[in-house]
Amino acid sequence: MINNSVIILAAGKGTRMKSTLPKVLHKISGFEMLYFVIKEAKKLSDDITVVLFHEAESVKKSMQNYFEDINFVIQDHKNYPGTGGAVMNIKPKHEKVLVLNGDMPLIEAKELEKFTEIDSDIVMSVIKMDDSSGYGRVVIQNDEVVKIVEEKDATQREKEIKTVNAGIYLFKNEILQSYLPKLSNDNAQKEYYLTDVVELAKNDGFKVAPLFVKEENFKGVNSKYDLSCAEEIMQHRIKKTFMSNGVTMRLPSTIYIDADVEIEGECIIENGVTLHSGTKIKNSHIKANSVIEESEIVNSTIGPIARVRPGCYLYDTHIGNFVEIKKSILKGVKAGHLSYLGDCEIDEGTNIGAGTITCNYDGKKKYKTQIGKNVFVGSDTQIVAPVVIEDEVLIAAGTTVNRDVKKGSLAISRTDMKTVDGFFEKFFKE
Ligand code: UD1
Ligand code: MG
Repeated sequence: MINNSVIILAAGKGTRMKSTLPKVLHKISGFEMLYFVIKEAKKLSDDITVVLFHEAESVKKSMQNYFEDINFVIQDHKNYPGTGGAVMNIKPKHEKVLVLNGDMPLIEAKELEKFTEIDSDIVMSVIKMDDSSGYGRVVIQNDEVVKIVEEKDATQREKEIKTVNAGIYLFKNEILQSYLPKLSNDNAQKEYYLTDVVELAKNDGFKVAPLFVKEENFKGVNSKYDLSCAEEIMQHRIKKTFMSNGVTMRLPSTIYIDADVEIEGECIIENGVTLHSGTKIKNSHIKANSVIEESEIVNSTIGPIARVRPGCYLYDTHIGNFVEIKKSILKGVKAGHLSYLGDCEIDEGTNIGAGTITCNYDGKKKYKTQIGKNVFVGSDTQIVAPVVIEDEVLIAAGTTVNRDVKKGSLAISRTDMKTVDGFFEKFFKE
């Protein structure tokens, strides 16, 4: 399997995305399209070359965040535009070369393996489509590919062909190397077409086998609409995998999960939940419309309508509605309603009353709040950090805690309440 080289074409500008961001860096399920293509390719090959041109440096940099051993080459786009131009002057290590597109984030290694199982000089992906417009049409005779005609070069009859080129090929390396120099740009787009290698090889008696593939796996993304369709397919895959591993999901079509999220053990994810990249959930119940980002949640219940921002570790904890938490460690804690807890460490048995706010920012710096075991924080408490509240403290409702509180004590800050008899009558009726 590892005996194949892979070339990924990613030089195109992606004009139809109408964006300054290079096409292959647009994300689905939290990651760039090109990331998924490289990730799958790595399962098949130790020799991967990515062809870049448009915004080459930024594409290269973002992929180097994930992968170390990828070759990047810059296409000589001025002199050799087109998919054929893109693969010129690359020297793959192995006997066979799989050519992929960087804008096909839904391809999976197990589908690509099928190319390598066919005994042929060239294997190319073909999709049957009712509406074949926009694609290269594949002329097939006696189960072999004869040629591929680009739409812009096709005759009216050729345009009616329903078998289209999905754009993925497996070539014998020697065939690629001998025919690439023979390509010409004598066509409607004045480009060097990789598809012409197929026709040239066929004419010299080499065998070109079509491999019929599903559009769902080989969908190319050209527009923001395509991007959203690809994301839907990927979301469906992600959630199906979790459910088959035993995760309960209520109305899964309303749930969004990034591709690297981990969910383990007995978990329930309710409708409208969003789980962002870097999140790990174990034996927990995430209730409706909660949002969790880059945090770890173990044996806990979250929500409904709670927001857990990056850097939280919540263990044996209950977080209720309208609670926002950021960069905090909570173990065995209850925070049931309407609170902001930022930069905190809170220990077992502590109850955070409704409306508790950690004032963690003074306009210049962020400060930490530390709360010990079995503390009762009354409603509407403001904790002005930095502050340490030791174990077994009672904080009265409405208190502003602005210095440390010793173990076992009461903290209360209140102005005395006054009552004025007969005031209502006087104020409204006179
Ligand atoms: C190509 C095929 C067409 C097929 C279609 C499937 C050719 C000549 N045509 O069409 O038969 O139906 O894909 O999607 O190959 N790229 C480069 N350098 C370039 C041009 C393109 O790297 O100079 C890359 C693009 O970034 C993209 C891929 O090649 O990842 C395909 O390019 P695109 O322009 O989308 O394909 P078409 O030429 O329309
Ligand atoms: Mg094109």
